[in-house]
Amino acid sequence: MALDVIFEISELRRIVSGWKSDGMKVAFVPTMGALHEGHLSLVTLAKTENARVVVSVFVNPLQFGPSEDFARYPRTLKEDIEKLKTVDADVVFAPSATEMYPTGFQTTIHNNGLATVLCGKVRPTHFDGMLTVVAKLLNVVNPNYALFGKKDYQQWRIVERMVRDLGMLVEIRGCEIIREADGLAMSSRNRFLPPEDRAQAHLIYEGLTATKSAWIEGERSSEALRAIFSVIVSRSPKMIIQYSEIVDCFSLLPAAEKVGNVSLVMIVAVLFGDVRLIDNLEF
Ligand code: PAF
Repeated sequence: MALDVIFEISELRRIVSGWKSDGMKVAFVPTMGALHEGHLSLVTLAKTENARVVVSVFVNPLQFGPSEDFARYPRTLKEDIEKLKTVDADVVFAPSATEMYPTGFQTTIHNNGLATVLCGKVRPTHFDGMLTVVAKLLNVVNPNYALFGKKDYQQWRIVERMVRDLGMLVEIRGCEIIREADGLAMSSRNRFLPPEDRAQAHLIYEGLTATKSAWIEGERSSEALRAIFSVIVSRSPKMIIQYSEIVDCFSLLPAAEKVGNVSLVMIVAVLFGDVRLIDNLEF
């Protein structure tokens, strides 16, 4: 099937309700564009389940803080469309800002728990902006399920929470992180790394895997575990750890000093100059 590029909500609704009345499942992959293998893997996954797949491409102004990289965030719709054709996506929904936020728009979604920790501490308005656009997109696309990459682990958990809290009729799936050959998690922001920084960015994943190995070997002190990550990452003089936390994978609260038998994830944010990278590893 040919890939349709849709700019208007009314047109998208017409297509999706047609699919649904033909008995098809609809999967949704929300993105801000600048697509990479991580995004494409989500489409491929949904296609293997025989779903019709809608991919949104919208750089959402609401989720960027005043000093963040909204203006320079890559906008590559033409290339994104070509990439989506290779994985057989069905529709690209690329609305304008006014289509998403019509004049007088004044309703937002606020999370008061999961969004206040980790990235929420350093990006205090980010998750509310993200939830607002995701809620709107879920309303207009009306999919059976939506796929989120686990690279944005906190985002995935917060969206799951919203869907449960508001009784939204959609299944939220978290999908595995896709990594470059050296272990760096794929991200639209990796393209901002100068070559010398890109060559060192593998240390983030190396730090995460070394920490996990220590945990498997029995280390249970979160301080000692975080120190292992820090030692590895500081091999690059330019990398600054913004935070590194070992947290309960549902509450996202720090695991106690001697962690018990809960499922954990180590979540980190690292700064390379003005490029901010996040990553995580489930224990
Ligand atoms: O993960 C992203 O790319 C964005 O936060 C999302 C989910 C598309 C909302 O703008």
